[in-house]
Amino acid sequence: MSAQPLRIGIHDISFATAHQVLDLSELAEHQGIDVNKYYVGIGQSEMSMPAADEDIVTMGAEAAGRIIDRHGAEGIRTLLFATESGIDQSKSAGVFVHGLLGMGENCRVVELKQACYSATAALQFALGIVARDPREKVLVIAADVARYALDSSGEPTQGAAAVAFLVTADPALVEIEPVTGLHTDDIHDFWRPNHLSTALVDGKYSLAAYLRSLEGAWTEYQARGGVAFDDIDRFCYHQPFTKMAVKAHDRLNTIAGSGLDRDARRAQIAASLDINRRTGNSYTASIYAGLLSLLNDDEADLEGSRIGFFSYGSGSVSEFFTGVVQPGYRALLRRDEDAALLDSRVAIGYARYRSLHEAVDEVRGEDVVTARETTGPFRFAGITDQMRRYERTR
Ligand code: CAA
Repeated sequence: MSAQPLRIGIHDISFATAHQVLDLSELAEHQGIDVNKYYVGIGQSEMSMPAADEDIVTMGAEAAGRIIDRHGAEGIRTLLFATESGIDQSKSAGVFVHGLLGMGENCRVVELKQACYSATAALQFALGIVARDPREKVLVIAADVARYALDSSGEPTQGAAAVAFLVTADPALVEIEPVTGLHTDDIHDFWRPNHLSTALVDGKYSLAAYLRSLEGAWTEYQARGGVAFDDIDRFCYHQPFTKMAVKAHDRLNTIAGSGLDRDARRAQIAASLDINRRTGNSYTASIYAGLLSLLNDDEADLEGSRIGFFSYGSGSVSEFFTGVVQPGYRALLRRDEDAALLDSRVAIGYARYRSLHEAVDEVRGEDVVTARETTGPFRFAGITDQMRRYERTR
């Protein structure tokens, strides 16, 4: 009798965001433009805005803390932290989280970077680790603060969030299937030189690059024996702004010759857009915030549904792959908690947003003590002796 193939995938997933929010009507009013350019044109309503004592570590620890609270840290021997908003050029942000969560010392911890793609690289590396030894559990944390210059066209597409997920054998949420399609192209559509805290972007070119990359990854996915378009029930895209996912899905329908009408195409992605519409871009976390948003949809029973994922990171690297939602997945969701995280954010006005944005560049490595502002469980307390200090708040 032949052995059953090993099933590996996402066993649990959780989310966190910054604890302040700017409604994009505030930005539109300051700019003197119609807010529907944002609400409708780019499909964004709000953006999460970190306080001075919040960053990728505090959000990442909060998201991962929910997973550790439920499953314990026992047996997690790898923590992969994916981000392009790194807080140190050498030490992984994951090591700070490992310390804050009191995880065991027999653990490898590393940070990964390739723009918004790196969480998918972390997922693929995690699948490999578990395939080699099914006892392994890998904690992946994707966290980013998306920042563009004030008064630039990228400004309404900022945001902040973290998603953590646990990769194991016999996953309870989503089994990840083995076939993938890849695409890499050495371009400058979006990038951030070391001396800048805000990204540089060639906006229109970045949209075209994203769509070209989708075609490249999908074509390779098909060539390597991936399932047909019609055998995929839902789709989940990297979402720099939610309209990008709509454009991408329309393009994929055209490439695949699906024949689906507009409503049918929208139904395949609609639920995946809800969280990102409210957090704003969270770079590498955004596709997994999209997955959580899709799973949280209480109007659909997704058991047995196949999800197609398109992960894009400027620069550029992308990947198309699929996963199958597992029976009983709904029992593991934290719908009310996730909704509360978004609803309980403190609304700020334009002036406060602008001063928080400007303050980021004032932290240059001198000793600093941050004001106690976050309502989250962890905070960035400041810098002493060139070292970042974090603490639990409760
Ligand atoms: N009511 C409704 N819609 C309106 C409107 C109104 N009053 N006014 C404008 N619109 C629509 C426009 O028609 C347009 O829609 P379409 O694209 O469907 O034609 C949409 O609103 C946006 O308008 P513009 O193109 O004029 O907007 P813009 O020039 O100010 O720039 C942007 C938009 C390029 C997305 C810019 O915000 C940007 O550069 N963002 C950062 C880059 C980015 O997110 N790139 C995505 C691909 S790269 C990637 O994915 C990696 C990553 O995370 C960054």
